[in-house]
Amino acid sequence: MRMYDIILKKRNGERLSDEEIGFFIDGYTRGEIPDYQASALCMAICLRGMDDDETAALTYSMARSGDMLDLSRFGELSSDKHSTGGVGDKTSLIVGPIAAALGAKVTKMSGRGLGHTGGTVDKLESIPGMRMTISREEFLDQCDKVGLAIIGQSGNMTPADKKLYALRDVTATVDSIPLITSSIMSKKLAAGSHNIVLDVKTGSGAFMKTYEDSKKLAESMVKIGKLCGRNMAALITDMDRPLGYAVGNSLEIIEAVEVLKGERKGDLYEVCIALATEMVMLFKGITHEEAQAQAVGAIESGAAFAKMKEWIAAQGGDVSCLDDTKRFAEVHPVSHIVPILSPTDGYITSMDAAEIGTAAMILGAGRSTKEESIDYGAGLTIEAKTGDRVEKGMTLGYLYTNREDAVKPAEERYLAALTFGSEAPQKTELIQGIVR
Ligand code: URA
Repeated sequence: MRMYDIILKKRNGERLSDEEIGFFIDGYTRGEIPDYQASALCMAICLRGMDDDETAALTYSMARSGDMLDLSRFGELSSDKHSTGGVGDKTSLIVGPIAAALGAKVTKMSGRGLGHTGGTVDKLESIPGMRMTISREEFLDQCDKVGLAIIGQSGNMTPADKKLYALRDVTATVDSIPLITSSIMSKKLAAGSHNIVLDVKTGSGAFMKTYEDSKKLAESMVKIGKLCGRNMAALITDMDRPLGYAVGNSLEIIEAVEVLKGERKGDLYEVCIALATEMVMLFKGITHEEAQAQAVGAIESGAAFAKMKEWIAAQGGDVSCLDDTKRFAEVHPVSHIVPILSPTDGYITSMDAAEIGTAAMILGAGRSTKEESIDYGAGLTIEAKTGDRVEKGMTLGYLYTNREDAVKPAEERYLAALTFGSEAPQKTELIQGIVR
């Protein structure tokens, strides 16, 4: 078999066999196929596409390019969720405890963030003592006892994706449904869960900007997951504005705790209940109505918050910060808390979520290079969202930072991300689609 022939075949629009796809992934992972040939094939895939069987073969080859977690001891209870990422997205911190309180074994390997705010790992590390690197044995043992473990990615999982993603990033080949599907789903397959719930974000703060593209990606990932033997569901959710009111690491933990304590409803609560409902449907095999009632009940009974505390304690985190979230301000103090004032009267007609994320990054909540450190106390809170009526001088939100020189640029960025008008904008649905 020759890589040249595989590239030519795909360039001519023909389908590749499982063996050809396996040859490419194995050879590329081992360093036997050079970047220039791999990037030529990625470009041919971008332009010519792949059918479902090819995409499943690519996904599976990438999943087995490194270590795969064996969760068979948890039978059909093992559950995972994945979000394509958005601003203020702290759903894993809420959905995980709800599902675990209802009997799921939630195992999740999360990333650090690059860009607006930290990833789930960074957010959790804002809890004093929290250990995000634990041995595989401890991880599985914790899932067994507590029903929930979220840790940082470790070991040699999906090396093919690590290499390919870096290559795609610099060769204009990220934007392809089969390549995105295989990248995301290979990591999910390697992580081993039987039930997988996907949150595909759509809108200004999302990777996929339009509903049509988000739906195509959701359908493709659900289909490939099923072809690889997993129970799958995907929600397409709105990311035309940040999710919830907090953007920034410890600020987001505080918000997640408020939702789990049943103190805060609104968009974040709704998306989390919808995601948890899908997960409960999958691992319990019950109807939507029953699963939703159980998810809501887990918050109302206090079981979900109790599960969060059990989980955080198991990973060494200081649970007193969850009981009394004001402690975060002592642990991660900021020198400046500055209100953002409305420049005008009217309705907020749109919010560019990605720009609001960038404002949070400027304040210290995110990193622009892998090496940069994060200020866990920095970020922003949002007091008024799209559709709200505001008056000139009213507080739209607050900036939290230790960087005095960041206040003005962050405020300018935040205000530039908003548009105002005299009429209320059309309401967009929070949950825009479900793919099962
Ligand atoms: N996220 C991933 O993990 N992979 C992609 O290809 C795109 C987004």
